[in-house]
Amino acid sequence: MTQLSEHLLKQNTAPELSRLLGHITDCCTQIAKLLHHGPMNDILGMAGAENVQGEDQKKLDVISNDMLKEALAKTGLVKGIASEEEEHCVSCHEDGEFLVLFDPLDGSSNIDINSLVGTIFSIYSAPEKSSIEDADFLRPGHEQVAAGYVLYGPSVILTLTTGQGTQMYMLDQTIGEYVLYQANVEIPRETQEFAINASNQRHWAAPMQAYIADLLKGKTGPRGKNFNMRWVAAMVGDVHRILCRGGIFTYPWDKKNPDKPGKLRLMYEANPMGFLVEQAGGKAFTDKARILDIQPDNIHQRVPVILGSADEVKTCIQYHKDI
Ligand code: F6P
Ligand code: MN
Repeated sequence: MTQLSEHLLKQNTAPELSRLLGHITDCCTQIAKLLHHGPMNDILGMAGAENVQGEDQKKLDVISNDMLKEALAKTGLVKGIASEEEEHCVSCHEDGEFLVLFDPLDGSSNIDINSLVGTIFSIYSAPEKSSIEDADFLRPGHEQVAAGYVLYGPSVILTLTTGQGTQMYMLDQTIGEYVLYQANVEIPRETQEFAINASNQRHWAAPMQAYIADLLKGKTGPRGKNFNMRWVAAMVGDVHRILCRGGIFTYPWDKKNPDKPGKLRLMYEANPMGFLVEQAGGKAFTDKARILDIQPDNIHQRVPVILGSADEVKTCIQYHKDI
């Protein structure tokens, strides 16, 4: 049984980064405990406010955001944070070595039905200056030093990369430690499973229409095989399934909101998931470019996302080149 801290040591992870990951994962353990307490702590339901992106905030969105913000500010390791639930970045410690971005509770609409939710995080080295502003966070995903998520499901699972492959650790609730259970995750290159919110079909652009139509034609269609479909409605759950057994996940641009480039946020959803997926041998693209190469222009920027099994993502991108 290798615990997270031991495993990070074996991988020669910088001690400060290991300590930071310890603080983040300890805080996620506290969030998991709150979720398990359920209604007893008056944590369910709406917070009665909207976040900067006009989405209704759940009480648990706000609580988990505050927990992470406070936990990270106390470490002395973090210069600043940016979060889905904060309009602008928040300064923490002027000597902090890291910038951390997070989606404190991805898929929070699933809370009402006791289904999967998770915390997604992305870590960069901090610039050498004493105060920070939003612009300091606007760096492409390939500069991330670590990224991961903690999935609050039947088991609590940490999936992490520091650029040396993607590893999964399971929280052993009896000792309160994350224990390695899947080293060097490998996403199968090929798949027969896709994930998309098909209710938006009439709004998709022509290439996505054509790609999904061909998947649905199954064995007698151009793809020559049958495909199954899954949709968790929490990116963290869909990406976890893809890391476990392959698949393609997409939230494409659609003309329902033509001014929005997509639904998912680049800096605390697409980038960290893209890093994890690539480190597991998969691919992560918008409909045009590698996600990790995008130069962000806003901490809350949205992008179309197509990620998962390498060959399937390539096929989907080919439809976007051809049509
Ligand atoms: O964070 C946005 C998000 O909740 C993702 O986790 C998820 O993949 C998606 O939105 C669900 O979208 P929809 O409500 O269209 O199913
Ligand atoms: Mn989210």
